[in-house]
Amino acid sequence: MSDNGAATPPSPQAGPGRARQDAIYRPGALGIAPAVPTEPTRLEESARKAMSRTAWAYIAGGAGSGAPMRANRAAFDRWQVVPRMLTGTTRRDLATTVLGTELRAPVLLAPVGAAGLVTDDADLRIAEGAHTSGVPYVFSCQGGNPMEQTAQAMAGTPWWYQLYWSTDEALVDSMIGRAEAAGAQALVVTLDTTMLGWRTEDLDLGSLPFARGQGIAQYTSDPRFMTLVRERVAAATKRAGGLGVDLKNPLTVARAAKGGVGTLLSMSREHPGGTRENLRSAEPRAAVETFLDIYSNPGLSWEHVETLRERTSLPVVLKGILHADDARRAFEVGADAIVVSNHGGRQVDRSVASLDALVGIREAVGPERTVLLDSGIRSGADVFVALALGADAVLLGRPHVYGLAIDGAKGVSAVIDNVLAELDLTMGLVGAASVADITRDLLLPAP
Ligand code: FNR
Ligand code: LAC
Repeated sequence: MSDNGAATPPSPQAGPGRARQDAIYRPGALGIAPAVPTEPTRLEESARKAMSRTAWAYIAGGAGSGAPMRANRAAFDRWQVVPRMLTGTTRRDLATTVLGTELRAPVLLAPVGAAGLVTDDADLRIAEGAHTSGVPYVFSCQGGNPMEQTAQAMAGTPWWYQLYWSTDEALVDSMIGRAEAAGAQALVVTLDTTMLGWRTEDLDLGSLPFARGQGIAQYTSDPRFMTLVRERVAAATKRAGGLGVDLKNPLTVARAAKGGVGTLLSMSREHPGGTRENLRSAEPRAAVETFLDIYSNPGLSWEHVETLRERTSLPVVLKGILHADDARRAFEVGADAIVVSNHGGRQVDRSVASLDALVGIREAVGPERTVLLDSGIRSGADVFVALALGADAVLLGRPHVYGLAIDGAKGVSAVIDNVLAELDLTMGLVGAASVADITRDLLLPAP
């Protein structure tokens, strides 16, 4: 105890776990509970209350019956941690390096599209939270802020860029070039969303954020994309027999946009420039239509992916791998890393859980290849299990968006800090002094 009766905070050497406990228990002693719950189910419940129905449907929802989301969690439940005693693990080193990016801990924030459903400038707030907690963020191709702006908000903390492969190859090159110029440290190409999955929560509300202009900021800030949009507007004007004026009439456009005035307003708000001018312009709607036409290439093939080696100097990460043969092939075509992922159970109902797929994939590609995992990570203990089963690092998905919904950038940071705290305490209590010490022999299959 210090002179004023308050307990002395743990020294920084005590690690992020004890520091975080202290940061929560001290205000707790004064009757102040943390704004962001530490327990994953309560975090989710609290976020749900802070979100609109459409936001919740998109963010928490998954494919079909939701089975792959349940499978992701059930896969973690099939493993148990076996703590070792009297190891004297007074200091834990959580740091690691993945593809040349130095990580404070083996955790990055997963790319999430259309997070603008939760709050304005969502990508900037997530970036600020990531920066505060010192964790890299993988910017989504379906972001709500141009990558150049989000890069600024990272304030020097590393970031990667996630690409969806458009049917327009010039747009693919343009986005890769922008990511390189803006300072991305790796290019993540997501393979599993050549079309959106059958998302029952969104379908039953008839809600697709992109159709309202949400989550297309990487496109509307892109010169190549805007050329396509202007070509489309010009072609439509010509088809209308020179009655371009009609397209500039907000009423005509609103009627044409089936969702009506609300959709038109949303498109105009999301589009670069002033909402008032946008309401009078045909561009915002043409941008949405252009996006819906060229978003993601259903014919994406290994041959496309192979071209990346000539198209970028960045390390290439292929996200969405679930089969051992695809994992092997990914490295054969020159990928530097893969993310074992079922996209948070959002794409294929009944798909295999990421953690279940990880075990065979690690065996297939050997110990040297860089393998990341996401889908179902909810806590520091989950990170520990994923690493023990062969992941080099993990991506944290929905939980960071839940933190955003509850408390903005501070909420994002709180979620990260809680996950890292538990990882640190688990390592200490189990006897793992470093990430390399998190090994399979510290796990047993649950009986
Ligand atoms: C995603 N995910 C995703 N992945 C991607 O490569 N690009 C994207 O734009 C998005 N968008 C997106 C939006 C939302 C709301 C969610 C929840 C997820 C998938 C994401 O990167 C990651 O794979 C999953 O979130 C992992 O599953 P959990 O842990 O969140 O359940
Ligand atoms: C999603 C897409 C954008 O999961 O990746 O919603």
